[in-house]
Amino acid sequence: MGGGSEAREQSARLLATCLIAGVVVVAGASLLSFYLSPNASPLGLGLGKWRRKKKKPVRVYMDGCFDMMHYGHCNALRQARALGDQLVVGVVSDAEIIANKGPPVTPLHERMIMVNAVKWVDEVIPDAPYAITEDFMKKLFDEYNIDYIIHGDDPCVLPDGTDAYALAKKAGRYKQIKRTEGVSSTDIVGRMLLCVRERSVSDSHNHSSLQRQFSHGHSQKFEDRGSGTGTRVSHFLPTSRRIVQFSNGKGPGPDAHIVYIDGAFDLFHAGHVEILRIARGLGDFLLVGIHNDLTVSAKRGTHRPIMNLHERSLSVLACRYVDEVIIGAPWEVSKDMITTFNISLVVHGTVAENNEFQKEKDNPYAVPISMGIFKVLESPLDITTTTIIRRIVSNHEAYQKRNEKKNASEKKYYEGKTFVCGD
Ligand SMILES: *[C@@H]1O[C@H](CO)[C@@H](O)[C@H](O)[C@H]1NC(C)=O
Ligand SMILES: *[C@@H]1O[C@H](CO)[C@@H](O)[C@H](O)[C@H]1NC(C)=O
Ligand SMILES: *[C@@H]1O[C@H](CO)[C@@H](O)[C@H](O)[C@H]1NC(C)=O
Repeated sequence: MGGGSEAREQSARLLATCLIAGVVVVAGASLLSFYLSPNASPLGLGLGKWRRKKKKPVRVYMDGCFDMMHYGHCNALRQARALGDQLVVGVVSDAEIIANKGPPVTPLHERMIMVNAVKWVDEVIPDAPYAITEDFMKKLFDEYNIDYIIHGDDPCVLPDGTDAYALAKKAGRYKQIKRTEGVSSTDIVGRMLLCVRERSVSDSHNHSSLQRQFSHGHSQKFEDRGSGTGTRVSHFLPTSRRIVQFSNGKGPGPDAHIVYIDGAFDLFHAGHVEILRIARGLGDFLLVGIHNDLTVSAKRGTHRPIMNLHERSLSVLACRYVDEVIIGAPWEVSKDMITTFNISLVVHGTVAENNEFQKEKDNPYAVPISMGIFKVLESPLDITTTTIIRRIVSNHEAYQKRNEKKNASEKKYYEGKTFVCGD
């Protein structure tokens, strides 16, 4: 989708032209030897460098808070990357988020891990300002060589009522992408609070009013259409096209050492990213098994998962350390599965919500353990899905305020919504 495939196509065409015309023999030969050389990087990459000498890469910039990062953010980054050759992402500092919308759920260092792990991101600028000032814009153009500033088609209004991207628009260096429907942080918080309410009825007064506010806009819509009750509904319409856009579309190479890790990967967070990074480092191809919604509910309670199977799959697929996912993996890692995928190592992190498995009489990893291909990995971060839910709940008053502000602009967005081209 990005400049990569375009570059590859262009280079393939170039190579074809060279060979057919029979001219530029030297270039043709060196290209061929490059192609045949076993240690060379893939054809596209090598020629990409060659092309760059002629044409400067288009660098695009996108910024955001990326708090409670979800596949909607990932999709925005994917679309932004497709508008250029290199994507630079500015991550807003904690202080700026506090000043503009209230405390973030995820501290900057975790948000940095999340953004850096998205496979369409080439560079990250930490501590980006909430609004692009004249100074910062100059810095983007002069120091970071940015060609265009990208933002979604939803309005981004500053507390003083002005358009956050007015300067970039005036400079003629602004491009727009289509907002990803189906998910927003507000909606996710609504689902989390609902799950907390289901669990502790005694505490319900506090959360129910909050939950109503968080999920208002969306649940209303669904009720209007006469479908479903409650707020645990998603606007997300999974299409095969979206899954293809997120996929690498490549299987393991010959003799690849295939590592397998499974889990719910609910509310995909920095702890997940870090364990996936380590798992990927143990082989050449990382296969991730994502348990289906029923399995997750059965193991962790009816209020889980917060994100459905397709949503969880997209978040995992967007991660650069992941090569392939199994959408709805079995709970038990069977001999058949190991053979089918030629798995050579099965791993599991020390920090996980189901670390009682060793004691269970039906240990899901019994087969890989007996084959001597099971390994427990030290999790770099002590974060689980429960940690994220706790952070939200313990901070709910601040979110309540923050959401009141957001409520109005969301409503306006949905009322004024029209069809926008793009994917
Ligand atoms: C709401 O929660 C806070 C702390 O989380 C607690 O101090 C307060 O008593 C609760 N209020 C009600 C009405 O339950
Ligand atoms: C299966 O994986 C092993 C590495 O564990 C590799 O050596 C072997 O070539 C793979 N088999 C195939 C058919 O790719
Ligand atoms: C949020 O917006 C709805 C209308 O969509 C309104 O009825 C509700 O009172 C608003 N809530 C807050 C807290 O502003």
